[in-house]
Amino acid sequence: MSELHPDVQEVLLSEDDIKEIVSRVGAEISRDYAGKNPLIVCVLRGAFVFTADLMRAITIPCAVDFMAVSSYGDGVVSSGVVRIVKDLDTHIEGRHVIIAEDILDSGLTLSYLINMLKARKPASIEIAAFTVKDTEGQGPAVKPRYVGTHVPDAFVVGYGLDLAERYRNLPYVGVLKPEAYANK
Ligand code: PRP
Repeated sequence: MSELHPDVQEVLLSEDDIKEIVSRVGAEISRDYAGKNPLIVCVLRGAFVFTADLMRAITIPCAVDFMAVSSYGDGVVSSGVVRIVKDLDTHIEGRHVIIAEDILDSGLTLSYLINMLKARKPASIEIAAFTVKDTEGQGPAVKPRYVGTHVPDAFVVGYGLDLAERYRNLPYVGVLKPEAYANK
């Protein structure tokens, strides 16, 4: 077990928990997509850590490509309108696409992205979300086919998740101490 970062109040998912989650999702995808050579789409930046581990937990042939999007608006709450900062290099027409995400909150980012990618006529398009945030209300605007686990509605960091680009490198998922984000 890594030493706890001083800004982290509590570990939600240890390295072992993460390994277990990722191997389960990888096994599900390997079973469901046998013979389909799926394209894993990593939505930068947060999902790069999960994507790298997920790819290695998938035992069937698969490919990877990357997209970067940025939300319009104040950047704190998803506006639901996203701008493509980096598009895919792969043509997805006729491909089986799986979008890998680190965290699904409102789901607005992915809902927009999925509609945009559907216009390119993939054979199928699904979401593999490492975590889904439990919020009050009706839940995310999209329904992921694969869910790693749920996390509470708190400021979670690590395993790709950041606060102002910090903490992505923590090997576990933890809740930040309030004083760590109070003046951000
Ligand atoms: C995070 C996450 C999702 C989005 C989820 O990205 O990676 O893309 O927010 O929020 P939503 O479900 O409410 O739309 P962020 O904008 O923080 O960028 P990052 O991946 O570079 O950290």
